[in-house]
Amino acid sequence: MLLEKFYIVGGKKLTGTVTIAGAKNAALAILPAALLADSPCVIDNLPYIDDVIVLADILAEVGANVTLSKNGRAVVDGRPVSRYKAPHDMVKRLRASYYLLGVLLAKFGKAEIPFPGGCEIGARPIDQHIKGFEALGAKVDIEHGIIKARAEKLVGNEIYLDVVSVGATINIMLAAVKAEGPTIIVNAAKEPHVVDVANFLNSMGANVKGAGTDTIRIKGVEKLNGCEYTIIPDQIEAGTFMIAAAATGGDVVVSGVIPKHLESITAKLLEMGEEVIEGDDYVRVRGIAKPRRVNIKTLPYPGFPTDLQQPMTVLCSIAKGTSVIHESLFDHRFRHVEELRRMGANIKVEDRVAICEGVDFLTGAPVTATDLRAGAALIIAGLIAHGVTVIDNIHFIDRGYEKIEQKLMKLGADIRRLNDGESLLKVVSSNNTIG
Ligand code: UD1
Repeated sequence: MLLEKFYIVGGKKLTGTVTIAGAKNAALAILPAALLADSPCVIDNLPYIDDVIVLADILAEVGANVTLSKNGRAVVDGRPVSRYKAPHDMVKRLRASYYLLGVLLAKFGKAEIPFPGGCEIGARPIDQHIKGFEALGAKVDIEHGIIKARAEKLVGNEIYLDVVSVGATINIMLAAVKAEGPTIIVNAAKEPHVVDVANFLNSMGANVKGAGTDTIRIKGVEKLNGCEYTIIPDQIEAGTFMIAAAATGGDVVVSGVIPKHLESITAKLLEMGEEVIEGDDYVRVRGIAKPRRVNIKTLPYPGFPTDLQQPMTVLCSIAKGTSVIHESLFDHRFRHVEELRRMGANIKVEDRVAICEGVDFLTGAPVTATDLRAGAALIIAGLIAHGVTVIDNIHFIDRGYEKIEQKLMKLGADIRRLNDGESLLKVVSSNNTIG
């Protein structure tokens, strides 16, 4: 792994237009779902990010023919897939590898996948996925860190999810599309990418109804065909740029989005006094110098997304007054706060609540990205801070954001990627600026 860093000189207002890539969390389910088809699938608008690249490698490892282009197109042919086990070292690198359980179970009636990896943001159980597979008739055992699922035959059933889980909802859909008879998922997640995965499955010939509501009904079909499909834009990447535009007091058109998916972010920005103008496929954010305080509670869609809690903390850190941020989904999603404190933020964390007293400004500092969205938050902090911020562990950020520094540079940010071993002093002297 390259030890790259981001070097940011803060203080530039972001202006211009940024185009949003395809949704990471849709892509990570749709790619493995393509293995269920009896002919190749062509998938467009995939984000070219590390998680997608690793997942494509995992699919190839189980035998699929996968071509992935930098222009966002993948062709996946699942016909040659012969293995129902995935390699531990790859699976550990990404949370979404759990979707192989649902897919391989549906394809072969058996799957063996090590416990998935992903960001360390708290306990991330998969009991609801397992409950779903068992309800469909699978026997699931956990041995030596490997989840082993087997079924003579999958038969549809009614499954009530105890918690609203994106991962469990999608995984059960994947396992149920070819099961015998109807499946009903009650208390399903309603995220836009759940709907996108259902639309993709239906394009392959599945019968999935109700995605986007809390009850999803699936009628099992015998056969799924290849199809061409375009992934929806990434709600979280769009939200990240909206928050960055607001925080820098900039004026940015975030384009190629579905504004409806961004309503919770738009609502909070408006509450803080920022200007947000919605178009058909864009939102324009014009930031103000001193936003108002706000309260935020993360919730499943259409509530405020947990993935944007960390970027939003940065905006609250320079708002007027005290903001209260309640993280209701994950236990350890405030690890960015300690880094923000190094930059002068005044934030206290008690359990799952951050109390954020706005300060006049942040100051640049060396900081560490502890997970993907913490990394995004630190970039925004670096953009607004006085002086230089150097972020390390940026491989976390590359997992989920496509060309983020190039997109920010186009908007006028002073950010660059320091390659492994590149001298910081050299960059500083060529910029002739520090502190
Ligand atoms: C997915 C996203 C992640 C996002 C999260 C919430 C992917 C690859 N990751 O993660 O970026 O932050 O949704 O939008 O799509 N839970 C259980 N048992 C389960 C499953 C979940 O108790 O079997 C709990 C979790 O601990 C969490 C809540 O349910 O508190 C929601 O988790 P879930 O929606 O499943 O998130 P992930 O699929 O892990």
